[in-house]
Amino acid sequence: PALVTVSNLAHKMSVKAADVIRHLLTLGVHASINENVDYDTATLVASEFGFEVESAEQSEQDLLPTVRLDRAEEMVSRPPVITVMGHVDHGKTSLLDAIRETHVIDQEAGGITQHIGAYKVKVPKGELVFLDTPGHEAFTAMRARGAQVTDFVVLVVAADDGVKDQTIEAINHSRAANVPIIVAVNKIDKPEADPEKVIRELSQHELIPESWGGDTLFAYVSAKFHQGIDEFLDLILLQAEMMELKARPDKRGIGAVIEARLDKGKGPVATVLVREGTLKLGDAFVAGIHYGKVRAMLDHEGKPVEEAGPATPVEVQGFAGVPEAGDVFLVVDEERIARQIGEHRQQKIREHEAAIVSPASVDELLARM
Ligand code: GTP
Ligand code: MG
Repeated sequence: PALVTVSNLAHKMSVKAADVIRHLLTLGVHASINENVDYDTATLVASEFGFEVESAEQSEQDLLPTVRLDRAEEMVSRPPVITVMGHVDHGKTSLLDAIRETHVIDQEAGGITQHIGAYKVKVPKGELVFLDTPGHEAFTAMRARGAQVTDFVVLVVAADDGVKDQTIEAINHSRAANVPIIVAVNKIDKPEADPEKVIRELSQHELIPESWGGDTLFAYVSAKFHQGIDEFLDLILLQAEMMELKARPDKRGIGAVIEARLDKGKGPVATVLVREGTLKLGDAFVAGIHYGKVRAMLDHEGKPVEEAGPATPVEVQGFAGVPEAGDVFLVVDEERIARQIGEHRQQKIREHEAAIVSPASVDELLARM
């Protein structure tokens, strides 16, 4: 089988060997810099860095994989993935509802909108993906695991309440994740609303609107009365345009678990946001310490789908166990490999649990290996 050394693989991708080793560990593979990894493992690690591994099989002797970066012409535009954050009761859910109500095109799907923690909205100028209620913890967990799924954050601040603890927390989380922030000043319909005060308070956190000489995008809305929603959506689309978001649909699916649960009838199910590539029915995958094969996929409206491309949230069935929010979701060649990686990770956890008393996350354990 085709083999490549860790150092060669790192060299071809122009990344540090230590980073490759770290990624290998999260896949349950211990390899030092001069050791070989096989084709499948190399593919898996390379995909994490945005590379694809091709086998250069011109001659019998030349079975070493060649590594190439995704080509510009293979990349296609994808919708932005937006996380809505803000202080409790400032109107995050209402704002999302207002967007949905004003712009839901697929009305025929009927009243039963399944809650999968993420949804796609079609607006006349394009598509938007919103992460519904990931909560700060899930956001942080995802960031800690390197599963950056959000392109930018919409920070909702109630005009009658101003900047509060969780507003500041949300700012800090976004900054730490290096994610741009768009401000939505909500509840402007209220008599007590004081948008100027909100601006003053936010400017202390370096969020300054253009009208005040800054470069943060601000929208002023009333989620309750659907005021300013179109202008707000225009801002979002403007931000997305500036970021020129692209992904390659024609490779194996890579994504992140947004939320997961044990369903009485379906077994373990998870909302997966596909980041790159296309996830297909029947694909074998690994997610954290769990693995499986995609048995069924439902879109955000609960409709069965056969595949999901970049920036698509889907509910996935077919996990051997319940994964965790923030787990990286990777398609692998075969179920055998998926099982091997999953079981290896599980074994590592058991070994460490036997050795230490306090339970720790996969990441902590892997970091210590
Ligand atoms: P949590 O998820 O609990 O953190 O709250 P949230 O940020 O999702 O707020 P939610 O949308 O549930 O709104 C909280 C309350 O504010 C509800 O009673 C809404 O009706 C009200 N509300 C939301 N937006 C507006 C608005 O634009 N104007 C007015 N007057 N009330 C609003
Ligand atoms: Mg809410």
